[in-house]
Amino acid sequence: MHSSLVTDGIYRLSAKVHNILFEGVWPIPHGVSMNSYIVKGDEVAIIDGVCGWDGVPETLFRQLDDIGVDIKDIRYVVLNHLEPDHSGWLQSFMKLTQGFEIVASAKGIDVAKAFYGFDERFRFRAVKSGDTIDLGGGKKLLFEEIPNVHWPETIATYEMSSKTLLPCDAFGSFGAIAEDAPFDDQLSEKQLAFSRARLCATTRTSSRPSRFRSKRRSRSSLPSRSR
Ligand SMILES: [Fe+2]
Ligand SMILES: [Fe+2]
Repeated sequence: MHSSLVTDGIYRLSAKVHNILFEGVWPIPHGVSMNSYIVKGDEVAIIDGVCGWDGVPETLFRQLDDIGVDIKDIRYVVLNHLEPDHSGWLQSFMKLTQGFEIVASAKGIDVAKAFYGFDERFRFRAVKSGDTIDLGGGKKLLFEEIPNVHWPETIATYEMSSKTLLPCDAFGSFGAIAEDAPFDDQLSEKQLAFSRARLCATTRTSSRPSRFRSKRRSRSSLPSRSR
């Protein structure tokens, strides 16, 4: 898989994965593509990430070479979401460079520390809705908290000059990206509907706040006691 230009200064790095069960449960017969995005201003940010298995991080690093980004030039690592299919690559990445700042929601930073045991060499920036980071060169990132899409720590990132939204799992879909059709307006409505429905079914329905879930269960889902 190759990198692709999204718009001026923004690139998608992508790795395809087949023959896996999503969350260890859900078959995804057309595979899935895990995507990471580079925003190049005067400084470079990488937004969202990929899993840590099957050589996927190395696929990502090769694509950095393709777009002329030295891994050590990455100044910000924006973690929209900490689920391992988005964050597992960090274990490989942090061995290669430590000169970056980790950007996530406050909850996301707690999860990152718990998962990956960052030591004192690493810097963290907790962001909330409305916070920005100016990369220079006309590129500016704006953050929005979108909790429970579909873990509680999730944020979306918006590049203001190009009006590019990087929404994490909010508008994703299953299905490995075809090399010759990397954008969704190149797919048929039928292809889109199938992929989106499956993602919605597997990521939205299990992530409501627990208080709501337990209330629902007590009303309708728990088995009745026989008397
Ligand atoms: Fe997720
Ligand atoms: Fe995801």
